Amino acid sequence: MKMEYICGLWIIMRYHKILIIAGFLIIWTFVFYYFMLRNSIDFPLPENDYRRKMMFKKIENQVKQELKKSEKLTNAVLRYLKLNYPSEVSSNKRRESQTPQQKDQAPQLQLVGVVPLTDKEQQTVMGLVEPPEQEQNHLELPHVDATISHLKDGQPIIPILVLACNRVSIAKCLDNLIQYRPNAEQFPIIVSQDCGDEATRNVILSYEPQLTLVEQPDQSDIFVPPKEKKFKGYYKISRHYSWALNYTFSQGYEYVVIVEDDLNVAPDFYEYFLGTHHLLKQDPSLWCISAWNDNGKAKFIDASHPELLHRTDFFPGLGWMLTKSLWQELSVKWPKSFWDDWIRHPEQRKNRVCIRPEISRTRTFGKIGVSNGLFFDKYLRYIKLSEEFVPFTQLNLSYLLKDNYDNTFLKKVYTLPIVTYDELRRRLISKDGPVRIQYINREQYKRITKMLGLMDDFKSGVPRTAYHGIVSFFYETRRVYLAPNLNWKGYDLSWS
Ligand SMILES: *[C@@H]1O[C@H](CO)[C@@H](O)[C@H](O)[C@H]1NC(C)=O
Ligand SMILES: *[C@@H]1O[C@H](CO)[C@@H](O)[C@H](O)[C@H]1NC(C)=O
Repeated sequence: MKMEYICGLWIIMRYHKILIIAGFLIIWTFVFYYFMLRNSIDFPLPENDYRRKMMFKKIENQVKQELKKSEKLTNAVLRYLKLNYPSEVSSNKRRESQTPQQKDQAPQLQLVGVVPLTDKEQQTVMGLVEPPEQEQNHLELPHVDATISHLKDGQPIIPILVLACNRVSIAKCLDNLIQYRPNAEQFPIIVSQDCGDEATRNVILSYEPQLTLVEQPDQSDIFVPPKEKKFKGYYKISRHYSWALNYTFSQGYEYVVIVEDDLNVAPDFYEYFLGTHHLLKQDPSLWCISAWNDNGKAKFIDASHPELLHRTDFFPGLGWMLTKSLWQELSVKWPKSFWDDWIRHPEQRKNRVCIRPEISRTRTFGKIGVSNGLFFDKYLRYIKLSEEFVPFTQLNLSYLLKDNYDNTFLKKVYTLPIVTYDELRRRLISKDGPVRIQYINREQYKRITKMLGLMDDFKSGVPRTAYHGIVSFFYETRRVYLAPNLNWKGYDLSWS
């Protein structure tokens, strides 16, 4: 920053010199013609008033012309200065630092060292070096749009942060990520490795330069309370997430997509995040985009609508995007363990919701080591991975914004006919179309989901995939909403 300020000051000083010269020229013109005038009056002149007036007019015109000339000259000098100041500033820089590799640096673009400038800092710098006139078209400045977080065309750069430890099967994940990546510049893959496992590191390194490997530097033993010894893995995972996210966001990115090393991704994985990222900025009630559907088994999804997306109060994780501002908020209080349960707590969630797809864009090929429990692991493998490519960037996704969604979704659900699970199962519903199954307490919810084969657990009182308590899924040929009664009062922490 210091250097940029010096450059800015220096330019201002240059402008001062030019203004003084221009001012001098103008004053000189006036003084010169003033003396001309006096002399001409002193000389014997024709007595004719008319002729005298004509002479005055002529001199007046000459003065005006001279003024115009000096104005033109001033402008020319200013333009010259503007066209040339970038190189002059870098030569100034060169003089200060004497490092040859800085020769070609344009001052307003360069990130000094590894600490990128924040947007605000960049604006400040740009404000200092911006020429005062609006003739920017004449200026062949280097392209100022491309930054660490955005491409030249304004599209965001979205790093894919892969969290690795000691599974060599990460190759399956990386193959997929590289295979479907439309543009390596826009989606840099950063693999962060914890655990220091040599074999895994070698697998990751074999993918260079398609990705970058970074290593979590703190391999010190982690303090775990005696009672939680068996959960040590979760403490390490939490430390790793915190380090890796901090590292990635500190590069200057606006968005990061987190992928664990046991995930396969769908062909339109990148397109999905590219098409939805703007929603996170547009709608403050959104805090994540997830590629995962917790109830994404083949029999619960509507295969004819791969483009369908939903809002959910349940944080799904498993291939998800967050913004820098959310990370700034969470990083300062990041927990020592069980970050996923922690993030789902109302204190963190603050009623914010995620977008999730009808058909999962990620699928886990199995966890070994730290596990979510046998049932969950087994279940996960039945999740259907989307195969079709949906052009999300071409779709109108404003139906997902809170006001639009709440207006239509809640109204729709609560005008649907109520049926029982038994009627559904025995195909006793005469009419086609969506229906609603009602639940009024925890036990009822558990019973119905178990019978259906849906996920039946809660986190911080929120059922998986629920929005306003409503779990939406596909059953045979129709959509079914498992919904609390209309005067629902919100999630109950004691249901967990
Ligand atoms: C976050 O990363 C930056 C840059 O890499 C580092 O200076 C800072 O100490 C890190 N903060 C935490 C809490 O790890
Ligand atoms: C997008 O969809 C919304 C409704 O969700 C509609 O109001 C809006 O007009 C649509 N925009 C375009 C460009 O079609």
